[in-house]
Amino acid sequence: MKVCKAVFPAAGLGTRFLPATKAQPKEMLPLVDKPIIQYGVEEALAAGCDQIIMVTGRGKTAIEDHFDTSFELERILEEKKKTDLLKVVRQISDMIHLAYVRQKEALGLGHAVLTARELVGNEPFAVLLADDVIDAETPVLKQMMRVFEQVQCSVVATQIVEGAAISAYGVLDVKPVEGHFGGRLYEVLNMVEKPKFEDAPSNLAIIGRYILTPAIFDILTKTGTGAGGELQLTDGLRGLLKKEKMYAYVYEGRRHDTGDKLGFLKATVEFALKREDLGGPLREYLRGLKLD
Ligand code: G1P
Repeated sequence: MKVCKAVFPAAGLGTRFLPATKAQPKEMLPLVDKPIIQYGVEEALAAGCDQIIMVTGRGKTAIEDHFDTSFELERILEEKKKTDLLKVVRQISDMIHLAYVRQKEALGLGHAVLTARELVGNEPFAVLLADDVIDAETPVLKQMMRVFEQVQCSVVATQIVEGAAISAYGVLDVKPVEGHFGGRLYEVLNMVEKPKFEDAPSNLAIIGRYILTPAIFDILTKTGTGAGGELQLTDGLRGLLKKEKMYAYVYEGRRHDTGDKLGFLKATVEFALKREDLGGPLREYLRGLKLD
């Protein structure tokens, strides 16, 4: 079974970034010069998904416009012979087949995934949380596809999170799978959404990349509200575990939580430092700052 569809829950209100997100979606905030969500979409494409499903809500039309053809802009760039920029702009709209579905109320991540049910159908699919931008030599979803090809069960991305910060995540209880994927693969035994530090079953946090079997949909319809009064994907996955095996994969890459202000700033600096056109001058500027 091949994974062709990638779901992007993007209906959140972005309250952590107010007032910047009052009139624009948080997914459109730029990391250097590219909206956050485009990093995720490019990752999904690189992993072989050619159908992108965005779960949006009120006030998210900028996302649709971003991935659409911009006739006027393209014409102006053409007339001004700005071929490099024209290429950048066209690449985005030529990229993919996109479908949008509206999540009318922000009822949780599990609910967002369930909203995509009709567009996904009865096939395995990926879920990417665009806030988690992961800088990796091999895109993380592609790493996970390799695992899925072998195990043919749901796979979640995971990373070690030390200390009390673990309480901000879904947390896994696992057992190692020896001899596969260089010790990076675990079988999932249980999971809990945002536990207290003392109740966390391990220090392995779920990170926003999932490959799921379609059995999750039925289970989500029967899952009650959980942490924060929302329908949690983690609770649905725990239900799925009762029916199917599931694996967790410790990906290779550097993750930035761009849903957090400090995480966003760090990602901006690190991505800019890697850029050919900006890295040098930015490094010089940073060196010149009197930090004490
Ligand atoms: C969501 C999930 C959580 C996961 C996290 C990863 O939480 O509910 O299980 O660990 O994404 O970023 P959120 O960050 O949306 O509160």
